[in-house]
Order: sequence, then structure tokens, then C-alpha cells
Amino acid sequence: MVSLEELAAEARRCDACRLARGRTNVVFGSGDPAAPVMLVGEGPGRDEDLRGEPFVGRSGALLDRLIAEELGRDRSACYVANVVKCRPPGNRDPLPDEVEACRHFLERQVELVDARVVVTLGNFASRTLLGRSEGVTRLRGRAYPWRGRWLVPTFHPAAALRSGGEVTAGMRADFVRARRCLEPG
Ligand code: URA
Repeated sequence: MVSLEELAAEARRCDACRLARGRTNVVFGSGDPAAPVMLVGEGPGRDEDLRGEPFVGRSGALLDRLIAEELGRDRSACYVANVVKCRPPGNRDPLPDEVEACRHFLERQVELVDARVVVTLGNFASRTLLGRSEGVTRLRGRAYPWRGRWLVPTFHPAAALRSGGEVTAGMRADFVRARRCLEPG
């Protein structure tokens, strides 16, 4: 099996879909490659594309707060990645063929990081990894045994920023769920 660094190098050379043409940087992932928690978003936005790092904007600030307050750790003690590694133009949703072209990177990241719990942020990540068609509102509220680890679906932080208190409260409850999956026993 290749290392996470080799996989990142492969992603930086990737031109398997149209998103490669518009990117400034490939946003492969960041954080501790041996973290017990992995968080998965949808795809890079403008700021992430410019910096080459996931979740650097307002969504990222909210994510940092939830990780600190509910998981009791710093983001650098987690591993953070997205479903697609290149920015969809104008921040549109990734298209099905783009998700499929990029899927193998995320699948191999999940195996290499080997976190005890994977938190999926929003519809795209939750559907893509669980292989289900329901939206995150339906899927969230429980921890799923998944590929020898736990998967906890929750809302995307951008949805919490748009919709406010109730969505944020739901995310907090889901992060607490994720923290429980980290506890021994
Ligand atoms: N939204 C995402 O889903 N991922 C990012 O990296 C930034 C914003």
C-alpha cells in the first residue's frame, strides 16, 4: 500500500476530471495522518483552493470550535479531507462523475489514516461514504458501524452558518456522539 504522502503526490498530478483545469491547488487533506478522528467535507472553496488546505474559511472556524468544544482537541489532532480534492467552479456542487473520479483518493485516505471514527460533514460526504441516497437530515442522529470503525454523519458547517442555532445544536450532539466512539469499551 502507498503512503499518505505518495497518495497526495498522485493527487497533485491528477487530471482525471474537468476540475483539474480550474484549480490553483489540489486540496488533499491536512492534520495528523494517524489521528483517531477523521472529518470529511465536500470540496474546496475559493480560499481552500488558494491555500491548498481544507476548511480555511468561516466554515473552518466553526469546525475548529466544534472540534475544540465537543471533541476536546485541536484540529491538528484530527485528519481533515474532502470528497473532491479540486475546487468546483463557482462553488457549485461536485458532479457525480467528478465524485467517482476522485473517490479512490478518499477511500485510500480512510484506510491509511485508519481513524476510529469518521465524521462526514453534509450530504455529499455522508452519502458518498455510507453509499446511501438519503440526505444528512435523515442519516444523522446515530453512529454507524462502518468498515471496522464508526461513521457519524452530521450537517455541513456552512449549513449551520446559514441556518443558525438548531443546526449548530445538531452538530454539537453529533460531535458528542463521535467523542463517545473514541472512548474505550
Ligand atoms: N467546504 C468543504 O466542504 N470543504 C472545505 O474544505 C471548505 C469548505
